[in-house]
Amino acid sequence: MFRDKSVTKPQVIRLLALVVGVGLSLISDGAGSSGMTLAQRSAQTRGKKKTAVAKKPRVDYAVFSHQTHVNGQKLACDSCHKFPTRNWKEVRKSDVAFEDVAEFPEHASCLNCHRQQFFARERPAPAICSNCHVNVTPRNTARFLFPSLGDVTDVSRPRRNSASEFAVYFPHATHMDVIGGNFQRSNRDVRFVAARFQKEKPKEESDPKNCVICHQTYQPQGDSSDEYVTKPPRNLGDAFWLKKGTFKTIPLSHAACSTCHNTEAGIEPGPSKCEVCHKLLPEKVPVDFDPKLAETIGVTDPIIVRRWQHRMSSGSFTHDGGAHPGLSCTTCHNIPSMNTAEPKSLKVAVKSCGGAEGCHVTATSDEGGALNFEVDQRKARVDFECTKCHLVFGRQPLPASHLEAIPKPVTK
Ligand code: HEC
Ligand code: HEC
Ligand code: HEC
Ligand code: HEC
Ligand code: HEC
Ligand code: HEC
Ligand code: HEC
Ligand code: HEC
Repeated sequence: MFRDKSVTKPQVIRLLALVVGVGLSLISDGAGSSGMTLAQRSAQTRGKKKTAVAKKPRVDYAVFSHQTHVNGQKLACDSCHKFPTRNWKEVRKSDVAFEDVAEFPEHASCLNCHRQQFFARERPAPAICSNCHVNVTPRNTARFLFPSLGDVTDVSRPRRNSASEFAVYFPHATHMDVIGGNFQRSNRDVRFVAARFQKEKPKEESDPKNCVICHQTYQPQGDSSDEYVTKPPRNLGDAFWLKKGTFKTIPLSHAACSTCHNTEAGIEPGPSKCEVCHKLLPEKVPVDFDPKLAETIGVTDPIIVRRWQHRMSSGSFTHDGGAHPGLSCTTCHNIPSMNTAEPKSLKVAVKSCGGAEGCHVTATSDEGGALNFEVDQRKARVDFECTKCHLVFGRQPLPASHLEAIPKPVTK
């Protein structure tokens, strides 16, 4: 589920290495989407061998975990990740190039502890290689595109479609003034870069200013006659189907930060201080996302899949739908209380669905509030499923927040 590497990494085949005599037996539990991983290849070439009684599952060296290495082994980010990597000028050309971490850690950062796994007798290659390499054959030693290159396309290097173990810490409140260009510090560099940052971006931001620099409506319907991301079945009726313009984007790479957080400007955190912006996520927050439904609809776009997997409030909410585009972002998103490193703080209050006009939350059901209607239905029938705003939450017990959101009738 949500940000759980072992389950969400669809391409990474879980290698259950079982201690049976001398050999390791490879059991694959699912097929990936694009580009075969080493583990898949080995599972294919060797066939699926069933082994007698699985005892203690051993460590899975095909799925790297930062929990093990950062929390467990107390390793610093820079013991593996070098900044900048040698290839930074090659991955982005000329004027868009900036010093970046653009490649996987090198073998040397693992070998001291994993000599055994690197030289394991596993065909066609040891499992551990698949964390970074697509392939390791004498003719092909391609590596995946390092995930920080979200803005880069390189047809020769596939992407690994895995969920991140981290949340990005971006204090919105601290930045709103800076990015608006009103930063009042005597540091000339800061003002310079802030001004430069502004000039490079189109000035089309709505209210409040500047959100659009980093968050745009993804695949809006625009003038197209297709309302949905994929063709719905003819008999769709009132059933849910994903609409265009549902999601807002989130920065895909360091490009959004590097204009200010670079080695010359001296604005902390510098680009090599990974741990200030990337925080390991300990908690798993329940999400309103249904992977089966996503599959039925045929959603494969990695940007959509990733954002959908993060929906913690309303899996069906559409930014481009109804009256939503006309509203200020802060009607629903409370900037001062948002901490992007604490997923729970990003939940959108159900009260905001009422808006100033009482759109989906009204004093009584007669006034047409969807929340009122569904709450009434639920009260009448415990198995009523709320589908107006939800994909899976609507089958769960009614949270107290929903009742509290409905205005109390005024008593005299
Ligand atoms: C022991 C080596 C090692 C250390 C220490 C390490 N990393 Fe990584 N990191 C890797 C490897 C290998 C990958 C690629 C495999 C993967 O994606 O999990 C990776 C991938 C990543 C990714 C992309 C995948 C994801 O889960 O989002 C981020 C972000 C990242 N590292 C940040 C950090 C930060 C921040 C630190 C320090 C707090 C850190 N790393 C420490 C080895 C390391
Ligand atoms: C300081 C020692 C150390 C270093 C350096 C190190 N590891 Fe590990 N790693 C461990 C330990 C300890 C475990 C726990 C399982 C075990 O004992 O093998 C582990 C586990 C793993 C696993 C199994 C899944 C998990 O829990 O993460 C993978 C995959 C892995 N390491 C890959 C790497 C790679 C790739 C690098 C280099 C980028 C690396 N390690 C660097 C000590 C280290
Ligand atoms: C933590 C990520 C990581 C793991 C795990 C890893 N590699 Fe690599 N590998 C790299 C990187 C990065 C380079 C490029 C180093 C450079 O350019 O100096 C590389 C380079 C290579 C090369 C040289 C060819 C080239 O493209 O430059 C071979 C061969 C290779 N790896 C084989 C393996 C094998 C076999 C394994 C498993 C036993 C393995 N690697 C595991 C990251 C990794
Ligand atoms: C300089 C870039 C930048 C600007 C400008 C910016 N944000 Fe963000 N925003 C981010 C980053 C980075 C994250 C965290 C992304 C992540 O979790 O990977 C984020 C996260 C969010 C989230 C949480 C998304 C979620 O996962 O639920 C919301 C909501 C949000 N921003 C709204 C806004 C609003 C409203 C504005 C304008 C007032 C704004 N942002 C301006 C960079 C920006
Ligand atoms: C009518 C309420 C409303 C308005 C107005 C609104 N949002 Fe959202 N936004 C939401 C909801 C609901 C979510 C889903 C949150 C969840 O389920 O985790 C969301 C999610 C997001 C996300 C995470 C990506 C996604 O789509 O799931 C970002 C980023 C974001 N909003 C930015 C913005 C920005 C920027 C604006 C203004 C241009 C804006 N929002 C206006 C309600 C709103
Ligand atoms: C227009 C310039 C600018 C851009 C773009 C920018 N920042 Fe910043 N950032 C600053 C400044 C200036 C500060 C220092 C604020 C202060 O000292 O009060 C800062 C501070 C920070 C801090 C430290 C805040 C704290 O509480 O210690 C973090 C974390 C951070 N930025 C993350 C990011 C991320 C992530 C991005 C990209 C999504 C980004 N910033 C983009 C100018 C920028
Ligand atoms: C100034 C803040 C900042 C610093 C410092 C920073 N990052 Fe990032 N990083 C971001 C933002 C913002 C993104 C894009 C948003 C996202 O991927 O959620 C990102 C994305 C990434 C990704 C892609 C994550 C994914 O799963 O798609 C990797 C990998 C990564 N960073 C690694 C690193 C490493 C390694 C370092 C240290 C050398 C580092 N970052 C330093 C802010 C930062
Ligand atoms: C108008 C939109 C809307 C309607 C209708 C609606 N919800 Fe929600 N629901 C939300 C929002 C926004 C959140 C996130 C804020 C919160 O947790 O209160 C949420 C959160 C939830 C959660 C998660 C609570 C948690 O603690 O994680 C559950 C469960 C839930 N709703 C159930 C229902 C049920 C059952 C109904 C029907 C009686 C319903 N909702 C009707 C908007 C709606």
